Amino acid sequence: MTWTPDSWRTFDALQQPVYSDQSAVEEVTKKLADRPPLVFAGEARSLTEDLARVSRGEAFLLQAGDCAESFDSSADSIRDRLKVILQMAIVLTYSAGVPVVKVGRIAGQFAKPRSSDVETKDGTELPSFRGHIVNDIGFSESERAADPGRLMEAYHSSAATLNLLRAFTKGGYADLNQVQAWNQQHAAASPVGQRYAALAEEIQRALRFMQACGVSTVDEESLHQVDFYTSHEALVLPYEQALTRQDSISGDWYDCSAHMLWCGERTRQLDGAHIEFLRGINNPLGCKVGPTATVDDVLAICDTLNPDRIPGRLTLISRVGADAVTETLPPLLSAVADAEHPVVWVTDPMHGNTYTAEGGKKTRHFDAILREIDGFFEAHRQAGTVAGGIHLELTGEDVTECLGGNVNSDDELARRYETMCDPRLNASQSLDLAFEVSELIRQRGER
Ligand code: PEP
Ligand code: CO
Repeated sequence: MTWTPDSWRTFDALQQPVYSDQSAVEEVTKKLADRPPLVFAGEARSLTEDLARVSRGEAFLLQAGDCAESFDSSADSIRDRLKVILQMAIVLTYSAGVPVVKVGRIAGQFAKPRSSDVETKDGTELPSFRGHIVNDIGFSESERAADPGRLMEAYHSSAATLNLLRAFTKGGYADLNQVQAWNQQHAAASPVGQRYAALAEEIQRALRFMQACGVSTVDEESLHQVDFYTSHEALVLPYEQALTRQDSISGDWYDCSAHMLWCGERTRQLDGAHIEFLRGINNPLGCKVGPTATVDDVLAICDTLNPDRIPGRLTLISRVGADAVTETLPPLLSAVADAEHPVVWVTDPMHGNTYTAEGGKKTRHFDAILREIDGFFEAHRQAGTVAGGIHLELTGEDVTECLGGNVNSDDELARRYETMCDPRLNASQSLDLAFEVSELIRQRGER
């Protein structure tokens, strides 16, 4: 079947907002289709090349950010999310000795799939919150109504966030000489903050040593800038279609809402609209792989999303849970390897380990997260394949949403529980994790 940006419309599209005024949606998406692209085809192609290196074990992917991004993100909160990702990347690069490909769940991560269409509170039933691109988190009829104007707001909010990220990553803030300044004030005094400070000092000493030896570190661009890519779940298809453009150089189609788009666990049906849409765009793609995915499912996803077996094109993000990972994953890894599909395998240790704590807060335990990552590396050891990266939900702030590390009791969860959707790692939990993962990557290299 031939693909067009709107060919998904003849397939079943799950998890779509229900708008009361369809003509308003058409009006907004028509305007969006005229707006400038947010990212560019050449950038998406660079990410594919970087991910190809990950698929060969020459680099490691760190994909991280909010579960559900807010239209109200302050400049400080965006900067702090970038900071913690840069910190983690430097820990992984320095301790494990591999280049890290940095991809944010940011500048467009506004749409959430939900397990129920409705939420009931005190006897009142309203539509579920589906992310700021659809409706608002407040519990009233007007806030929960799907508003087409939010599609345009998502575009503008993405543009503003991306603008700030581009300034930070290319304009001096991400300079290696700033490595000490990325330490978050609230985390700097903690043991892991101090461990980071010591590592930053070592890096600075190494830079001074190179200069003293006469190696010019001034002109070396890679020391002063970083490549930072954006990604989100491609969920609300009219929005993604409106941002899809034909590249003037190659004639290929790209969804210019983000560098990388992924398909969620709830919308990865092979005969569904999301897979249909994604197969035709040339951005690097992700697809979540949950505990029910069979070998046949995974091979069919590979054949559909990457029929030409282009390295870096497809990242499979497994999220099977800490208990299942060493049993569930190895057969999938072997089958994909035997079929000679050059995928990037990444672990999302968050979504298979969510539970409700005493007191009713949705949480995840740091130890379970670590256990799934450990099991992921172990599964790859068994299958002889490459453990390519991690996919995390985190924030740079001092929130208390996940247990473990510096959050020790169910009671403490209430202190700063701010997520609009799933519980995120805070800055020191994230840093802690980076040190643990760098050890696992080091072992991967020693095999
Ligand atoms: C997510 O990544 O926030 C998400 C909803 O994940 P999944 O599709 O794996 O459940
Ligand atoms: Co989530």
